[in-house]
Amino acid sequence: MTARIITARPVTDVPPVVEEQLEPGERAELKARIKQLMQAQDAILLAHYYTSGDLQDLAVETGGCVSDSLEMARFGHAAAAKTLIVAGVRFMGETAKILNPEKRVLMPDLHAECSLDLSCPADDFAEFCDQHPDRTVVVYANTSAAVKARADWMVTSSIAVPVVRHLHERGEKILWAPDRYLGDYVQRTTGADMVLWQGSCVVHERFKAEGIRELKREHPEAAVLVHPESPAEVIALADVVGSTTQLINAVRDLPSPTLIVATDNGIFHKMHEAAPEKLLLEAPTGGRGATCISCAHCPWMAMNGLRNLLAVLETGANEIHVDPAVGVQAVRSINRMLDFAVRQKLAIRGNSAD
Ligand code: 13P
Ligand code: SF4
Repeated sequence: MTARIITARPVTDVPPVVEEQLEPGERAELKARIKQLMQAQDAILLAHYYTSGDLQDLAVETGGCVSDSLEMARFGHAAAAKTLIVAGVRFMGETAKILNPEKRVLMPDLHAECSLDLSCPADDFAEFCDQHPDRTVVVYANTSAAVKARADWMVTSSIAVPVVRHLHERGEKILWAPDRYLGDYVQRTTGADMVLWQGSCVVHERFKAEGIRELKREHPEAAVLVHPESPAEVIALADVVGSTTQLINAVRDLPSPTLIVATDNGIFHKMHEAAPEKLLLEAPTGGRGATCISCAHCPWMAMNGLRNLLAVLETGANEIHVDPAVGVQAVRSINRMLDFAVRQKLAIRGNSAD
């Protein structure tokens, strides 16, 4: 019998980007009430860089964190708080719950999905893995708990290359899911033998190399920063390719006075803070007119706001639950990455001059 051909699920029902609009008075009232309830409920806020400036500021003001998905996982794990509020997308909430089954994990909106996660249903993925039993299964963080439970390793964009390089050096062949662009980038960077799931991010796949080249002609002094969920021809133009945190560090550290940024524009909040004197330009997406789906902003990240955050604190709604049996399986792939990150940091410190 020939094996069934398994393909990524097409993601067509992308919601429009709707950002919360607040008057200064309402913003101040919401923040004050949220802070009271967070304190009363022993809660901390983990906000991704793609969420609104209001949520990022609130996370900082209340002792939480604003970060990439790796640091959100680490910070939530290390925190003593009984409740974690995850302002991001569902897989981030699930990762927090998997790492902290004893904690209450809340999200402002449970419809905050991710096209990569949606492209990779657990049953199809399990069948795909069964068709490649000789491969080590490495999945990106942007997946469901059930997909992580089927994986040997979970990685985020900041650590995907070192993990796959390490596995390649051990002679392992890789099955990678779900982002085909990040998978392709990791494959080209490490030379590993990889089979790729064909999912994509609706935000990053829209960046266009020609648009960036045009912008570069107008700003020849500019450096180009690209998140590796972008297509190969966009990555080829990059001065720096990296996770959200790595791109913010690049804004601060590069000598260039102008930066062209190919990732979700929510990141500009922290980039401006990191280097207020620099000019930051959005890399052009597929359509600046009628065809623009994401316009460089994730519609699911935009679902997070102060109003729905207050509502979940008042009602206890939107709690994330993960089947404990799935959680026990999934945590192994996440912990492998976290342990690897610690070992890698130690190795880098050991090699450094200080
Ligand atoms: P980071 O791990 O770089 O934060 O990326 C998460 C993500 O969803 C990017 O689109
Ligand atoms: Fe998923 Fe893309 Fe949104 Fe990140 S930006 S959460 S990869 S859809």
